[in-house]
Amino acid sequence: MTASKTSVGTGAEVLRPHAEDAFADELRALAQADDRPRPAGWLLSPWAVSTYLLGGLLPDGTTVITPKYVGPRRIVEVAVTTLATDRALLLLGVPGTAKTWVSEHLAAAVSGDSTLLVQGTAGTPEEAIRYGWNYARLLAHGPSREALVPSPVMRAMSEGMTARVEELTRIPADVQDSLITILSEKSLPVPELGQEVQAVRGFNLIATANDRDRGVNDLSGALRRRFNTVVLPLPATPEAEVDIVSRRVGQIGRSLDLPPAPEGLEEIRRVVTVFRELRDGVSADGRTRIKTPSGTLSTAEAISVVTGGLALAAHFGDGVLRPADVAAGILGAVVRDPASDRVVWQEYLETVVRERDGWQDFYRACREVSV
Ligand SMILES: Nc1ncnc2c1ncn2[C@@H]1O[C@H](COP(=O)(O)OP(=O)(O)O)[C@@H](O)[C@H]1O
Ligand SMILES: [Mg+2]
Repeated sequence: MTASKTSVGTGAEVLRPHAEDAFADELRALAQADDRPRPAGWLLSPWAVSTYLLGGLLPDGTTVITPKYVGPRRIVEVAVTTLATDRALLLLGVPGTAKTWVSEHLAAAVSGDSTLLVQGTAGTPEEAIRYGWNYARLLAHGPSREALVPSPVMRAMSEGMTARVEELTRIPADVQDSLITILSEKSLPVPELGQEVQAVRGFNLIATANDRDRGVNDLSGALRRRFNTVVLPLPATPEAEVDIVSRRVGQIGRSLDLPPAPEGLEEIRRVVTVFRELRDGVSADGRTRIKTPSGTLSTAEAISVVTGGLALAAHFGDGVLRPADVAAGILGAVVRDPASDRVVWQEYLETVVRERDGWQDFYRACREVSV
């Protein structure tokens, strides 16, 4: 943790600790074991940052680093290496492919602080990326360094840290463009003071953007050239996706004091199968074509469906995840548009789920919540 991070609280346990706090022990162990060169301003070497993200065993043979991201190693290596160059990193992908998650963990591992964050929306103003003013001070004393309110990006520049911009393409194009000077000149002019803030070594920026938003506020060519783009894919195989979902559900469940659900693996497989079939538009055996619903049935959605199901099982069932615990969650994720998606779902139930061996309980549970 750094001095730049302050939070107001009562000292009670926070609901969701930042990555650098949740995994402080792992980061410390990695820093100790890490004898490779660290880029200026970095807390760890690129090797250690990759190991933090992908998981692994430290050279001492006993310290286990848990995998945060499950996916191709090369993707992580390219992302980490980019941060050590003069180019910024753009994580691109469909919703739920862990863009935000990877960005947070990268910032935590490289800079020890993942909180220098700008959330991009259609209403993000230029001040959120550059700087604003404390108007009471501005009126009382005129423009001064004390009256200036730095944005997270400006703070990252002056402290040599990693800044994060979420959902970059949702930000209006002219506001996005304020990043061009920052990324190309590594400087942020403050004309009101006749000064500039120059980025200290260690500064870089991670942006995330949604594939689906393309065309909303596409990146200008000038800005795109400042980024190295890394596309995060959907999990390649059902097994990989089941692995991701069970890992994350385990972690989230522990933080919510839900009982562990080893017996729930079958239901997790089922949720993942349903999501993948609807996403791909074809049944797992390749025999039946399926219409695709409007919602994004991402891994992240599967994680929430299973977590919700576990909570139902814990509070109203016998603690074992069963078809009835996930059926309503699946329905909610699939049927986003009440008219068209409902038809898609009914057809899927009747043509695929109903006929499948061992899926009768699940079929009945879905029928029950679908009427
Ligand atoms: N390949 C993956 N490895 C690990 N976790 C994943 C993966 N894909 C999705 N997740 C999980 O999905 C959840 C949502 O991801 P998020 O970063 O919010 O998605 P995005 O920003 O791409 O929409 C996170 O809890 C993350 O752990
Ligand atoms: Mg995101």
